[in-house]
Amino acid sequence: MTSDLRRRVTLLPLEDKVRLLTGRTGWVLHAATEIGLLPITVSDGPAGVRGTEATEDEHSAGVPSPTAVAAAWDTELMERVGRFFAAEARRKDVDVVLAPVLNLHRSPAGGRHFECFSEDPHLTAELGAAFVRAVQGEGVGTCPKHFIGNETEHERTGYVSRIDERTLREVYLPPFEAVLDAGAWTVMAAYNGVDDGAESSTMTEHHRLLTDLLKGELGFDGVVFSDWAAARSTAPSADAGLDIVMPGPDGPWGRALVDAVRAGEVDESVIDEKVVRLLRLAERVGKLDRDNTPAVAGEDEHVILREVGSRGHVLLRNEGDVLPLADSVRTVALIGPNAVDAYTQGGGSAHVNAEYLVDPAEGLREVLPEHVEVTLVRGGDPRRLLPVVSTEYLTEADLTLYDGRGETIDTPEVPGGAFHIDAQESAERAVLVSNLTLTEPGTHRIEVAAMGVHTIRIDDEVVSESDQRASVDDILQSRHAHPEGPRVEIEVPEGTGPRTVSIDVDMEVGDFGGFGRGVIVQIRHAPPGPTVEEEIQEAVRVAETADVAIVVVGTNDEVESEGYDRPTLALPGSQDELVRRVNAANPNTTVVVNAGAPVLLPWLDEVPAVLWSWFGGQEYGHALADTLTGRAEPTGRLPWTLPRDHDDVPILDTRPVDGIHDYAEGVFVGHRAYDRDGIEPHRPFGFGLGYTDWRIDDAALSTPGTTPGTDGLVPGAPTVTVTLTNTGRRPGHHVVQVYLEPPTEDGPPRPLRSLAAFASVRVAPGRTVTVDLDVPPRALAIWDPLEHAWRTPEGVYHLAVGSSSRAITHRLTFNVR
Ligand code: BGC
Repeated sequence: MTSDLRRRVTLLPLEDKVRLLTGRTGWVLHAATEIGLLPITVSDGPAGVRGTEATEDEHSAGVPSPTAVAAAWDTELMERVGRFFAAEARRKDVDVVLAPVLNLHRSPAGGRHFECFSEDPHLTAELGAAFVRAVQGEGVGTCPKHFIGNETEHERTGYVSRIDERTLREVYLPPFEAVLDAGAWTVMAAYNGVDDGAESSTMTEHHRLLTDLLKGELGFDGVVFSDWAAARSTAPSADAGLDIVMPGPDGPWGRALVDAVRAGEVDESVIDEKVVRLLRLAERVGKLDRDNTPAVAGEDEHVILREVGSRGHVLLRNEGDVLPLADSVRTVALIGPNAVDAYTQGGGSAHVNAEYLVDPAEGLREVLPEHVEVTLVRGGDPRRLLPVVSTEYLTEADLTLYDGRGETIDTPEVPGGAFHIDAQESAERAVLVSNLTLTEPGTHRIEVAAMGVHTIRIDDEVVSESDQRASVDDILQSRHAHPEGPRVEIEVPEGTGPRTVSIDVDMEVGDFGGFGRGVIVQIRHAPPGPTVEEEIQEAVRVAETADVAIVVVGTNDEVESEGYDRPTLALPGSQDELVRRVNAANPNTTVVVNAGAPVLLPWLDEVPAVLWSWFGGQEYGHALADTLTGRAEPTGRLPWTLPRDHDDVPILDTRPVDGIHDYAEGVFVGHRAYDRDGIEPHRPFGFGLGYTDWRIDDAALSTPGTTPGTDGLVPGAPTVTVTLTNTGRRPGHHVVQVYLEPPTEDGPPRPLRSLAAFASVRVAPGRTVTVDLDVPPRALAIWDPLEHAWRTPEGVYHLAVGSSSRAITHRLTFNVR
């Protein structure tokens, strides 16, 4: 077929071929019907399928975030989720879903941690491959991202990750290799650069990694997309192996690339090759010659998303079986900022417009019997910024756009207190004239922020001025989501009636590069209200008289998002204080953590029950209620290590040094670093309790054609057979984990223990099952940077079988000679 695709390419003139290589819009590629190419649509992303600009208002199913799904450690569940994504994609006319994210949790502070699967390469590889297999099995493309070395967000468009060859091969490349083996049709080149010891280039220009490794050695025959606005050069990126520049319609290729070909800087065959790849993608997704994109039958979204939510929940502690809630419970104190305002998706491009969100109170009230009384209180606002002003206070807001001559060209409607309004090419200046009407007596706090060059006046007084121009980096670093602005306090004296405050913003229309032109403004406001301390006191009062207290703590969009990392792993605001005081007031306290990435839980071993509930998507409250009441089992296991303290974290600071992220820890990422340093984590990698009890009765090793435990075993694919009994009274899932412990003699340092195989198994109470786990031969091998090849060192190997990286019950031995 490739010859047919090549023939088609010869029918197009150079200009037309090059035109195809930049998006037609942010999400849709160009068509060339004369050669049978129909437009291909791509869409984010890993927590649901958002759709394109044209369909943004349509609802998308809000799926639990990738970490939440990954926590089930279940490739079959991931396949179901993948098929659901394919159905969503087809429903929204999307041909390629920009997922999965295969970057690792190198640091728990990474801002997009919630979008990735794990700190572990093997777990990431298996789950990523399952997702790709399932989505593409339905004829919809995937785009594994961000290739490669994009583990953190701070200055993400500028830094270079310095990763030595062995570390690249053993840790960061395996997930990408696994999705290529699963047949991924596209890959996204990251914003950052990589110095792999042989070449240091930004990833869209990395010839060695894109052309030599990905397309050459690993045989990738699909399309390499640039991350959005990542490509900033013409010939270097075209020559390095990038195939499509996104977003369109502008960008560094187009006319400049045609000229580069004409000038002999880029060979025309390089262009042809990219078009062949694009046509191959079209063929695969059903967009060649005719639209062949039949609908995919997906599972009912309410059912699958609710089930997946509980499957990922990780029970971290359950003293005295506080969970599931007893039938005798009559009153529930539901407390916490995230009980009131659950954070169910991370911030940034993974965000989808879900049609609804089931919050914890709604979920609990639906699932608990009617006579159970649920009282909801917040217990203090943990946010740094004030909330966006409600329309009840924003009594006037008029925006006018002017051209360079000062003529009015548009008066777009202002949708509320926070807006990002696109502006046409000719718009240069924008003026917002608005009024807040403050009703309650007391102190009102107001913040006003605008991106780019601006002057802000409150009651005619200048409170902020900037001559700093807006840029594409404001979007890429997510500054647009939480623009900084001055805070003022305005007193409304008792008995004086409402007070009107004028807020005027005069600003330059910002140029956000590939993300268009426009204005971004936020007016935020907090009316007089109780202090954090007063709210905590109220929470304690409610907890004291309730049968049980459930405290939902967590992060929010100020903390976990694409575009920035976290400077601290502490819970924001006074949430630790809230937990401690509620726990002291009620002996039946459960804490639910609503976060996508590790936060420190200094009270973890003081509170009876602690459940990690992730970002659960639109069904968050239902899944949470199912788990808390025991309608469902929390079957999750931690896909990363939970640190006790900041000092324990192997890599905490995510700021590049002189533009470089040095992956100097090598292969010692996550739990491997804790093992190396002999640090006891607060909860280890792979940990999770569930509601039933387990016993691993036996583990045996069999390797085809060899005898375990004796000399002379050649490295094949050892199979571990585990006998497992559910010794409790409820059905449940157990995740059996097998870790490889390599020989400790000579050779380069290796992790004491690395994950080699796992299986999530459902077992009825009292039943015993046997589970076979295949250890891939690669698990035994190390990358030899001198030979540029895999090598399996001789010596005595162990396979450690258990229920977390630290709970090992059986150890099997074999030799490699
Ligand atoms: C993100 C990608 C995403 C793209 C399109 C980028 O900023 O890094 O993950 O797919 O935007 O939204």
